[in-house]
Amino acid sequence: MKLDKNEIKAMAGAKAVDVLVVSGMKIGLGTGSTAIHAVRRIGVLIQAGTLTNIFAVPTSFQTLMACEEWGIPLYSLNSKEIGGTLDLTIDGADQVDTDNYCVKGGGGALLLEKIVAYASVSYAIVVDETKTVDNLALSFPVPLEVVPAARLSVIRAAERMGAEARLREAVRKAGPVITEHGNLLLDITFKAPVEPEQLEREFNQIPGVVENGFFTRLPPHVFIGHADGTLEVRKPR
Ligand code: 5RP
Repeated sequence: MKLDKNEIKAMAGAKAVDVLVVSGMKIGLGTGSTAIHAVRRIGVLIQAGTLTNIFAVPTSFQTLMACEEWGIPLYSLNSKEIGGTLDLTIDGADQVDTDNYCVKGGGGALLLEKIVAYASVSYAIVVDETKTVDNLALSFPVPLEVVPAARLSVIRAAERMGAEARLREAVRKAGPVITEHGNLLLDITFKAPVEPEQLEREFNQIPGVVENGFFTRLPPHVFIGHADGTLEVRKPR
């Protein structure tokens, strides 16, 4: 059996829901082409009557619209019913290392993804096998969400840390990507292995950085789909 990329993502996303989601949960829902399969699975289970009393907090317009389409009850983190804490968040990732630290933000939703993840008691990452790496931020950039006025000062600060920083350009719109929070994205790559835990703290100390795409503080369950149809599950550690 050889699954294509979308089938692998669907397997990982659906499995995380089947293993971790129960009725009555307050759930953060991530963004991207893998997380969307977890969202879809929740929608299917709600429509089948298998899951009831689900309170979902989306992390982007993409996820919000999917919840609307699939009948998943929507709330914000600030809703009275949610009260600023979630039972579980399920999300995708751009890279996962051997410590289960992640780089996220390839889809530009890292700010809300991190707010929602870190407000959760437990966390699950769903990926296909191509996302696992030994070292983060070498072959795929870690994004910084930056207020527009600080674009160049943050680029210079990142360069002083030994990184290369590029402004993320939009596709089918002239100029840069503007995030759902009105900010810019700088994509940061390193030439040598880095310490993600330390950099997650350090990047946020640069004035003008709103958030960065290293996710190291909440140990996730990691569901890794393989092309041969097998699924590897790493427990939080
Ligand atoms: C969006 C994200 C996504 O979860 C990440 O980019 C992975 O996306 P995909 O599953 O489409 O590869 O962090 O900001």
